[in-house]
Amino acid sequence: MCGIFGIVTDKEQPLGPILIEAAQRLTYRGYDSVGAATISGATIDLRKDAGRVEEVAERYNFAEMTGARGITQLRWATFGNPSQINAQPHLDSDGDLVGAHNGNVVNNVELRQAFMAEGMTVRSENDGESCVHAVERYLDRGLDFIPAIQGAYQDLQGDYAFVIGRVDDDKLYAFKKGSGLVVGIGEGFTCVSSDLPSILPLTRKVIRLEDGEIVTLWADRVELHSAEDGQLIERQPETITETMASVQKEGYDHFMLKEIHEQPVVARELLHRLDGDPDLVDQVVSKIADARNVYFIGCGTSYHACLAGAIYTAQLAGKAVIPVIAPQFAPQYGNTVTDKDVGIFVSQSGETKDVLNALEIAQAREMMCFSMANVIGSTLTRKTEAWLPLVCGYEISVPATKTFTNQVISFLYLAAKLGGVEDLDFAQLPDLMEETIRVTDPQVQALVPKINAWDDTYALGYGATYPFALESALKLKEITYAHCEGMLSTEFKHGPLSAVTDGFPVLFLAGPEDVPLIISGINEVTCRGGEAIAIGQADERLRINASDMVTIPDSNSAFAPLLAVLPLQLLSYYMAVARGYDPDFPRNLSKTLTVD
Ligand code: AGP
Repeated sequence: MCGIFGIVTDKEQPLGPILIEAAQRLTYRGYDSVGAATISGATIDLRKDAGRVEEVAERYNFAEMTGARGITQLRWATFGNPSQINAQPHLDSDGDLVGAHNGNVVNNVELRQAFMAEGMTVRSENDGESCVHAVERYLDRGLDFIPAIQGAYQDLQGDYAFVIGRVDDDKLYAFKKGSGLVVGIGEGFTCVSSDLPSILPLTRKVIRLEDGEIVTLWADRVELHSAEDGQLIERQPETITETMASVQKEGYDHFMLKEIHEQPVVARELLHRLDGDPDLVDQVVSKIADARNVYFIGCGTSYHACLAGAIYTAQLAGKAVIPVIAPQFAPQYGNTVTDKDVGIFVSQSGETKDVLNALEIAQAREMMCFSMANVIGSTLTRKTEAWLPLVCGYEISVPATKTFTNQVISFLYLAAKLGGVEDLDFAQLPDLMEETIRVTDPQVQALVPKINAWDDTYALGYGATYPFALESALKLKEITYAHCEGMLSTEFKHGPLSAVTDGFPVLFLAGPEDVPLIISGINEVTCRGGEAIAIGQADERLRINASDMVTIPDSNSAFAPLLAVLPLQLLSYYMAVARGYDPDFPRNLSKTLTVD
């Protein structure tokens, strides 16, 4: 997820340090390149490269940059590899305009060809440059800046926000469509940024832009216009009174709830990222295809994603994969591994010692090792052949939610590529996730008193829902401090069924193709007085057999198991809150486990 920041001040001054600090505040979003531009009279000073903020800023001496207007951008590569030329901001053909964007311009390739055909100088492959040329195109036709941005808005497809400025001017312009953009108004300056927390250290007087709005920033005022018709929009600034922590929660009571709701957004980002990096995807997929043995290795929630990944890889691509809990890798498989094997090491933090230990053994035996991690620059990402980024931004809450779903989606995507499956409409998945969260939230809240009366429960799944049952049980244990065991539904009758008494709750995750089998399990519970709660697509058979049902939207047998975990994340969250516990920081647990 890229981030942009722009500032207009009332005098020429050293802007470099302000831009470096602004960039640092956006680093949590994830990035691989950084750039800054200052505009002073007729001169644009542009410095940028791939790398971390501190190192690029030092190498190019951002601190000495001066001007009255400045832009900084953090880029996470989608169009074009991480490089100096693709880093943002970008210039227009003549070097009179400078701008940067956040988001994805989905018709970037077609636009670049059109710009070149029109005689513009296109220097990079990056879609941020297309935003600049899209404005240049209309300025060159003699339009003023606002109508030029309106024209660009018609041409640029996708979700994005951008900021742009011109030499010999006293303004910056910014525009929002789909990506976040907040305006700040301070003493002697105005600014614009991808998010509110990154503005708060500068000012608490802000205007939140809506999609389709253009803002013009002068040092002492701002003006909003509609991109549709150019009309002036009246909106008074608001004063933010909340603490930084509550602002970071964006209105949610806890980070966990915010992160649950962010899942569709980060899934969309991830899919765009994967679509935009076919070389990386092909590299991993071709190694898996040729491997003798393939291992997916992780701990806790990340292991559950490995298990889901192994099931998807077998179901969609006919390739057997061995999912392993990381510390078990050495004792169980250590002496069998060779250079003909491939492993994907999965970790949200990229620092889990158990996972790094397994990596060490695997690399000592020359296995080809890839990583799938969220934290940029983490040890795991640096020690592996290639890194599949999870593109989730910060996950603050200790219980993993959005990193889990993006791990699963990454595996599902790789499995579909490996199997040549083309009829899975991944573009639908984020919308389905959004719909699932929306429709199941009230259903789940209604069930909380019934389930929360117990300190013991089971979450059962079968086939592709099995790993999601394990994950649901882990979430419940982790933050409610109640016991919940995740199991294969068919195993329940081999022992745990003896726990069932009147009212004892058992959760059943039902994949669309497994309903008859799940119904057998449900009846084994209900006929002994237990409460069987089914989570699945609308199905009359489930509805009449289960005691309660949480209904998720219709999809397919690959997406449905992933969707089924979302209401169970919500259930664990609401149960923990009802018990008076803080779900973000459960006792005894740590977000990053760097010990054996
Ligand atoms: C997940 O909710 C837990 N906090 C925990 O199981 C976690 O998944 C595990 O510790 C592995 O962490 P990692 O993904 O950072 O390697």
